[in-house]
Amino acid sequence: MAAGPDEDRWWRGGVFYQIYPRSFADSNGDGYGDLPGIISRLDYLADLGVAALWLSPVTVSPNRDWGYDVADYCDIDPDFGSLEDLDRLVSEGARRDVRILLDLVPNHTSDQHPWFVDARRGRDAAHRNWYVWADPAPDGGPPNNWISVFGGSAWEFDEPSGQYFLHNFELQQPDLNWWNGDVRDAFDAIVRFWWDRGVAGFRIDVCNMMIKDARLRDNPPATEDDPLDQQLMGVRSVYNSDRPEAHDILRRWRAISDRYDPPRLLIGETNVEQLATLMQFYGNGHDELHGGFNFVFINAALDATSMRAIVEEVEATLPDGAWPLWTGSNHDVSRLATRWAGGEGAKVRCALMILLCLRGTPFLYQGDEIGLTDGPIDQADLRDAVGIRFWPYYKGRDPQRTPMPWSHAPGGGFSPAGVRPWLPLTDAARRNVADQVEDPDSVLSFTRRAIARRSGNEDLALGSYSSLDSPEDTWVFQRGRGTVVALNMSDAARETSGLRGSITLATDREREGHQVDGVVTMAPWSGLVVET
Ligand code: GLC
Repeated sequence: MAAGPDEDRWWRGGVFYQIYPRSFADSNGDGYGDLPGIISRLDYLADLGVAALWLSPVTVSPNRDWGYDVADYCDIDPDFGSLEDLDRLVSEGARRDVRILLDLVPNHTSDQHPWFVDARRGRDAAHRNWYVWADPAPDGGPPNNWISVFGGSAWEFDEPSGQYFLHNFELQQPDLNWWNGDVRDAFDAIVRFWWDRGVAGFRIDVCNMMIKDARLRDNPPATEDDPLDQQLMGVRSVYNSDRPEAHDILRRWRAISDRYDPPRLLIGETNVEQLATLMQFYGNGHDELHGGFNFVFINAALDATSMRAIVEEVEATLPDGAWPLWTGSNHDVSRLATRWAGGEGAKVRCALMILLCLRGTPFLYQGDEIGLTDGPIDQADLRDAVGIRFWPYYKGRDPQRTPMPWSHAPGGGFSPAGVRPWLPLTDAARRNVADQVEDPDSVLSFTRRAIARRSGNEDLALGSYSSLDSPEDTWVFQRGRGTVVALNMSDAARETSGLRGSITLATDREREGHQVDGVVTMAPWSGLVVET
């Protein structure tokens, strides 16, 4: 229950904000967002009240997977600007009390990274063993039955050397061999490079997959109890994912982080099916990740019973001293305003109230604060290789990556008028930052009030969580000593009892400032924070 040492307050009590840099703000009119664009919006982010930004990759990339295929871990891709721009973002952020986290992609590199270019030269190449190579099976086929997350065999034959290399994602994203000490040393240097520049931490891409079974054993067949994606692949990912040795690597980085003042944050993309598996990434609570994204929660329905059950299990099983993270959207999953709320404003506010009032650090994805929905994407607009491959069965991840609508001006304030952004804008005339800033009843104004309330109330920022009894389809919980959060997550009005004090935050602004004492009628899809 303890909130943790003082050095943790800034991030435990803070709200984080994920930026997908290519779609945030285009400063030079090339249709792509960039670092100077982010800098130009720092005042907005500081006013919103966020403590830190996590930037999806801005390092050099040929963009087969839009930055998640890295060709140089220690330089900025020219699409986004320069190292000087990054340094300026860090220092301008610091002036406003907003810290910067980057994305670390350790599972794989781009096939154009010099390490892989060298590895491909032949079996004796200096970097050969930095990647996962294996001889063909006796029939000449792939060494085992592993399937890529993005479809097809995870192995690609390299004709000149007569061996296969492993790629758990795109063919152009060869997996690194984390059994090799040289790879570990290289990444120690990479994390130090950024942390020495004042970067506050990393979100670590697919950190549960980094290391694979040393014997490259076949995965067992999937059963009907396995998640749908594994059933479709026909195999359960046992040997190419979630290996116990990944934790050694996280402990190694945590030891490096702990030598910094303040310690640098390690936030993991822990896309695992079970909460028990997620908990393992916290180690003993102090020696692995500071936080792991909870995909069980992300994938849950916006439903009081299921969400409360997940939160209660997290509260009961999180290692002592560890801290949860809560998020509803990111660049890989449909935005919460679409997936959870079906575009309905009342549901968006409830979802935001949950994220911002639970015990744990909320991560908003750019646009969540204005209730931005997924963009309509036509086949001709597609930029995500996965969408291109699986269209129309799966439309890929472009809908949640459309540009940030800053205003109703032509170009939505994202790119200058007349410039076609890399992905189409989502209906900026109807939903945009500038209009919502002016409107006290907008989703944005609600989000700002919620973040401000959270920073002004120790219970909400750092207090304990406990569920309280409440009627069906409602969720009522106490934070700390004197703050109660009540949500009606149904289509009908509901009465909750036992709420006493003043309403300090409400999805319906009219209710703020009112006193309640006992039974309170709550409108469908509404929420209240009551403080004694
Ligand atoms: C992570 C990223 C995703 C990327 C994949 C491969 O899941 O979030 O965008 O495609 O890793 O790097």
